[in-house]
Amino acid sequence: MDSIFTEQPGGVVGKPIIRVDGRDKVTGRAKYSAEFPLPGLTYAVIVTSPIAKGKIQSIDSAAAMREPGVLTVLTHQNLPPLATTPNTPEGKKKIGAPMGFLPLTSDEIFYAAQPVAVVVADTLEHAQHAATLVRVAYQSGGKPIAYYTDPKAELFDPQKVQDGKQEGHTKRGTPEESFASAPIQLVATYHHPVHNHNPMEPGSTTAQWTAPDRLTVYESTQGVFRTQSSLKAMLGLPADNIRVITKYLGGGFGCKGSTWPHTILTIQAAKAVGRPVKLMLTRPQMFTSMGHREDQEQTVKLGATAEGKITSIIHTKKSTTSPWDNYAESNSKILDMLYATPNFEASYEMARANVMTSTFMRAPGEAPGSFALECSMDDLAYRVGVDPVQIRLLNHSDYDYSTGQQWSSKSLKQCYARGAELFGWSRRNPKAGQTREGRYLVGMGMATASYPVHNSQGTARARLYADGHAVVQAGATDLGTGTYTVMTQVAADSLGLPLEKVRFELGDTQLPNAPNSGGSVAAGTVSSSVFLACQDVWDKLIKMAVADRKSPLHGADPAEVGVEKGRLFLKNKPKKGESYAEVLHRADMPDIEGMAQGKYGAGNENPQGAKNADPSKKDEAGGHSMHSFGAHFCQVHVDSELGVVRVTKWVSVMGAGRVLNSQTARSQILGGAIFGIGSALMEATERDDHFARYTNADLANYHVCVNKDIPDMTVEFVEEHDPYINAMGVKGIGEIGIVGVAAAVANAVYHATGKRVRDLPLTPDKVL
Ligand code: MOS
Repeated sequence: MDSIFTEQPGGVVGKPIIRVDGRDKVTGRAKYSAEFPLPGLTYAVIVTSPIAKGKIQSIDSAAAMREPGVLTVLTHQNLPPLATTPNTPEGKKKIGAPMGFLPLTSDEIFYAAQPVAVVVADTLEHAQHAATLVRVAYQSGGKPIAYYTDPKAELFDPQKVQDGKQEGHTKRGTPEESFASAPIQLVATYHHPVHNHNPMEPGSTTAQWTAPDRLTVYESTQGVFRTQSSLKAMLGLPADNIRVITKYLGGGFGCKGSTWPHTILTIQAAKAVGRPVKLMLTRPQMFTSMGHREDQEQTVKLGATAEGKITSIIHTKKSTTSPWDNYAESNSKILDMLYATPNFEASYEMARANVMTSTFMRAPGEAPGSFALECSMDDLAYRVGVDPVQIRLLNHSDYDYSTGQQWSSKSLKQCYARGAELFGWSRRNPKAGQTREGRYLVGMGMATASYPVHNSQGTARARLYADGHAVVQAGATDLGTGTYTVMTQVAADSLGLPLEKVRFELGDTQLPNAPNSGGSVAAGTVSSSVFLACQDVWDKLIKMAVADRKSPLHGADPAEVGVEKGRLFLKNKPKKGESYAEVLHRADMPDIEGMAQGKYGAGNENPQGAKNADPSKKDEAGGHSMHSFGAHFCQVHVDSELGVVRVTKWVSVMGAGRVLNSQTARSQILGGAIFGIGSALMEATERDDHFARYTNADLANYHVCVNKDIPDMTVEFVEEHDPYINAMGVKGIGEIGIVGVAAAVANAVYHATGKRVRDLPLTPDKVL
């Protein structure tokens, strides 16, 4: 079954197949996690705290309980006990919880909109009304801290409190000395606001106890197995007793990558009322329930030769964290590896504020890190008087300077060249602030994109039926991005069946284990396990055939048997063979099952690969450094009177290994780039300085791009073959689309106006 790696006539891998679940979605047949009408279903509504710091003095639920249909009001005084809470470091670790505090386990208030009660009633309306009747008296804890910038906020180095772990602090070479002696020295500080994920489908949980110790949860999550593992720890139940189901997901962007408080509160509510309970977060609650991207400041010191070759980068970051957690995106990694940087240092500090814990959000670290790095690279280009593409070619890294490893594959130079060609980059005036069209200043900017391959593994099962259809399964999730579709394609080609004869099932802990759809690992991992599970089917069939006296292949060496379109044949005598159905019929088997584990990243690598690493680093680093790379090109029109920025042309070119579906892959990059354009121009969560409360917690005031904000965009993939990363040569594309985008826009704005804005978003007040 090597044939999947070659262009096979009639094969569907790579083709722009429309979503196999599309019809179910547009007809409403696709059931999201809040759409399972279980018998006796009840509804939960969360009551939240208006203050960000203090204590609950008293809760009076009597009026709420008197309302018709109300079943319970859960508070910190009557939440059914849990086996483990995340409130201790050990508990948090055991659960894999993002947040080291579970609301309703204490009378303390740590952040605004912290849940203080959960009302359960027979209808949503009864629960909503009763929630307004819960009387909570608070004792204020004084003025809360809203940001790390508050004069009362104390910055600390998290390394010192993380068991001496070196996380986030990197140093190699002589960064300070090299910077001090560099002919060109650039120092710049960048600001990034709070962001919230805001997927179309808010977080939701439907929990049903089917026995006192057996639970089914329909959960809006990016990973059913990770959810199961967190619940197992919190509930103290065997994993087998907890079934998590996620058939469809309306986006996630990272906020559904781990288990947040509302999930376990709903499960405990179901326990308390003895009926299934459904909870759906409101849009405002989405700003305070499932994490956010933290507000942050980055400073980049970049030293270079007079010709523009980087000699040193020093990166520091400050950000806001919660009262209990030390979470910060790891921005420095992309600054460490993207260019040939002989000397490098990165460190970060954070300050505790009265906010909930931040979490990973689409390309965590790489997205804001690339904003700082790629704007600084643009500064370097102007300073040296070299074209922005040329300055990047000059600093192109032929191996990963951060690890000393060779790349498993890298097509960045092709991406620059193809992107520049598609965009018409050669028409760009090298000088900034020179191009005008009426009242509009026109600018062109570009930036590099990169996203790492995170090591991952998962299992799949393939069942091929004698009647010519197949069911293939893996407990993965489809964020809406096309997992159902691309895995159906891979299975169809691997089994030699038409697309419509294959059903791919996902989103259930009763299926084979698969990783979270997060960190851009799903396509690379699951496609490999599906491919290998199908290969296992053929291996078994070949073994059966060569052992079967009635088979024309009897006695053949299994290695000499090939498979094409469901037919087994002798490779050197292709006419000699038979269909798999005949093999099964003779054995009186209606079907045959294959199962396999696929690995994505370093775990997949042929040990031979390690030979390519820098010999001095081989022992510590092993095989290859694995990343997707790409380039974004942006044109803006800036209104010289109003300061409004419009993106008027966009080109993204990516090198990401094998493309499984050219349409869904293009959509991934489009979506990422649009997300990035939003972050460049409009996206920001505003937290009030005095009360640490959110002032724009809805989609009317939290601005994301709409159609009118986005021009026609061009996305291409260059051809790239990566023999190391997995059995399919597929690299992740879920996150790379956003990386570098904000910088490409800011660089275009600089080219248009001559004004450098380092404070996101680039709103008119800053641009003018
Ligand atoms: Mo993504 S931020 O790894 O879900």
